[in-house]
Formats: sequence, structure tokens, C-alpha cells
Amino acid sequence: MANIKAVRGTRDLLPPETALWNHVEAVARSVFARYGFGEIRTPVFEVTELFARGVGEETDIVAKEMYTWEDRGRAESDKGQSLTLRPENTAGVVRAYIEHKMAETGMLEKLFYIGPQFRRERPQRGRYRQFWQIGAEVLGPPWSGSDSALRDAEVLEMLATLLNELGIRGWRLALNSVGSAEDRARYSAALRSALQPVKYKLCEDNQRRAETNPLRVLDSKEEADQEIINALPKISEFWSEESRTHFEQVKAALNACGVPYFEEPRLVRGLDYYTRTTFEFTVPDGSGLGTQNALLGGGRYDGLSEMLGGPKAPGIGFAIGEDRLILTLQAQAKEVEAKKLDAFIAPMGLGQNPAALKLAQELRAAGLTIEVGEGSFRLKKSFEAADKLARKMVIVGEDEVSSGLFTVKDFAAGEQVKVARAELVGALKS
Ligand code: HAM
Repeated sequence: MANIKAVRGTRDLLPPETALWNHVEAVARSVFARYGFGEIRTPVFEVTELFARGVGEETDIVAKEMYTWEDRGRAESDKGQSLTLRPENTAGVVRAYIEHKMAETGMLEKLFYIGPQFRRERPQRGRYRQFWQIGAEVLGPPWSGSDSALRDAEVLEMLATLLNELGIRGWRLALNSVGSAEDRARYSAALRSALQPVKYKLCEDNQRRAETNPLRVLDSKEEADQEIINALPKISEFWSEESRTHFEQVKAALNACGVPYFEEPRLVRGLDYYTRTTFEFTVPDGSGLGTQNALLGGGRYDGLSEMLGGPKAPGIGFAIGEDRLILTLQAQAKEVEAKKLDAFIAPMGLGQNPAALKLAQELRAAGLTIEVGEGSFRLKKSFEAADKLARKMVIVGEDEVSSGLFTVKDFAAGEQVKVARAELVGALKS
């Protein structure tokens, strides 16, 4: 019979690597707390229309990559509905913001999330069909200051802090503004007409984009098309005075905080909700990501709430590809050493199993991390297992149980000592 395997593009995360995932998430949570963010957990599936309206029908994500199914009603009378595994979390967060009337507090909402997302992309290193994002969103009614450039800079400064605290080296922040919704519409029209006469020279994908979503042509990596793309009009020529000022303010605040960035006029990003500031953090070649070098991306979405039928609620956010962050940390050799257990308890003979388990129970209750072996193991096998898992090994034999003096082997020090039961907790902690 053929073995059943994990579905293409999905993977199991196993120890000791999961320790690194937990470390990354713990650092992220601690940074988010310092900046006043609270956690939000939204469902992993939503009605399909949320993504069609929020992310945009013409985006690659919605047009090609979603896991969508028709959810049948249970009873004849129940209407079926189209559901989709979330390909990203911003639309879900804004849906929740509207549904729970969070605007009514009049306050700025600062929300973060950590969870899996799903896109049917061609799997490769750093690109999976189920992947994890660590993201955050800042949104609120305009009078909460949600559209201030200070918020953009605060989010970017927080990201720089997070990446530095994690020990990511060589990151680069690419920054752009796609202008207001009106600027963007004018730019889109200008691109469409600039592309019209040269379109036939482009690759098939870009020919289609030139019609449906000309902004998408800008982030094409197609080598042969670069000359044409570089000669296209730049978004900065279409910024309104307000958009230009906002962008200048973001940059001034970043300069004040000493956060390095470079301007990337072609950075329009692959989702339709963006307005004004857009950004991406990348890592240098050799950081384990190959061509998938975008560690995280984000930007402003001043009109998204209204697009979803909610109140005016400008916002800005980002999502880090956690899988990519982990690959980078591993490649940059910053793997946190999987922490060894405090002790391995080795019963000598099946008869000692109950005593060993009881000792483990007491030590665990005292807060120690403990693994118990098995009485049928030979001493050599116990030593090998203990050495792999724990810093120390406690032998539980007949003599030990009757005398209350336990043999403790310290692997790092290479020594073996006798410890009285009452002193065992202290000895194993040190
Ligand atoms: P995104 O650029 O589509 O933005 O995804 C953000 C990050 O998720 C990417 O930079 C990448 O690291 C990671 N990622 C995306 N697709 C995959 C994949 N197939 N496998 C592994 N990692 C992947 C968003 O999702 C927006 N919701 C970000 C945002 C939040 N904008 C505003 N607020």
C-alpha cells in the first residue's frame, strides 16, 4: 500500500526546529506588546466575496491561487455558499473590525496575528501552499490619527526593531508610495496607454496584465521586458500634493529614528487595497531564500474598510512570511540551540518503572523539565538517550530507592555524583 504523504506545498514542522518557531513568535509577541498591539485571531476560512472585494478580483491571489469550495447547506432549505481558505489576513481583520463595530470606540486599533495562510502557488524553497504569517494592522477612524505618517513610520521602526532583535542580518527596506486611490487610478490609466503601443513585445502574462491590471506589470521579473518597464511613467509623477507630503513625512520620521530605507518606485505590491505607503523588507542573496527574498510586505489601505461596507477607517499593516524568516535565521546560523531537558530519569529494571515515574512527577511539579526512560533499557542505551535529550541523568535502581541517594550524571561536566533526594531539585537546576 502506498504511504500517505503531506499534501504538495504543505509540510510538518518538527522539533527541534519548532523551538526556533516558538522563539521567533515569543520575540514578536514581546515586541508587539511594547508597541501597544493586542492579538486578534480570525477564522482560517471566510466567505469568498471578502477576498474578491478586499484583495481584488484581478490579483494573482484571487484569480489563480485561492482554495475555494462550495459549502453545501445541511438541509435542503439551507443555501450553499462559496468559502475560501484565507490567502492573507488583512481582509479578515478589517471584516472583524467592521463586524465588531470597533470604530465606535473612536480609538486607534493595533492588532497583531500569527497564523497559517493558504495560496495555491508553485511550491519552491520559501514558497508553500500553507505558510505562516506574523502580521499586524493599525486602523481607526481618521480622528484617531490612523492616517498620520507617524503611524507608517512607527510600524516600520517596529519592524526594524523586531528583525534586529531576532538577529536578521543585512535586511533592506524598500519604500514607495502608490498615491491615493485617485492618484492610483490616474496612474493606472497612464500606464495602460503607455503600454498600448509596446504591449505586443511583452511576455504573455504581461500582455494580459497590461489590459486587466497594468500596475502589476511593474513588479514583473521577466528579464526580456525590463527595458520597456523601466521606461514607463513613474508613480511619483501622479502623486497629489497630499500624497507627496505624506510620503515626505514618513521618510522624515524614519530619518529621525535612524531606520535605513531606499526608495523603490516600482514597488506597487500584489494586492489591490494599497494606497500611499507600500514597503517590503528583503534579505541579501545567500540568506537561504533564493528568489523568494521578500521577508515581509505591507502598506497602507485607507479605503479597504469602505470597500467592505464599513466606516472610513484608514489603516496600515504588514505580514512577515514566518517560513521565510525561519529559513533566513537558519541560513544566517542564528538557530537557537534546542534547549535540553533538565534531566533524564533512567529506571534500572522494569521493577523500578513506578519509582522512576513517581520521581519524575515530583521533579516536574517542582518546575523541572524531565523525560523518563524505560526499565527494560540497558544502561548504555539509557546513557545514549539521556545524552541526546538532557543535561543530566538520574539513575533509579533498587539501591537508590532504598538509600534515598541518587546517582546523577552531568554530561557537560563529565562527572557523576551521589545526591540525596531532598537536594535533587537544586542539583538538577544548576
Ligand atoms: P503579501 O506580500 O502577499 O502581503 O505577503 C506577505 C509575506 O508573506 C510575503 O512577503 C512573504 O514573506 C510571505 N508569503 C506570501 N506568500 C507566501 C508563500 N506562498 N509561501 C511562503 N511565504 C509567503 C500580505 O499578505 C498582506 N496581507 C500584508 C499586509 C498586511 N498589508 C497590509 N497589512
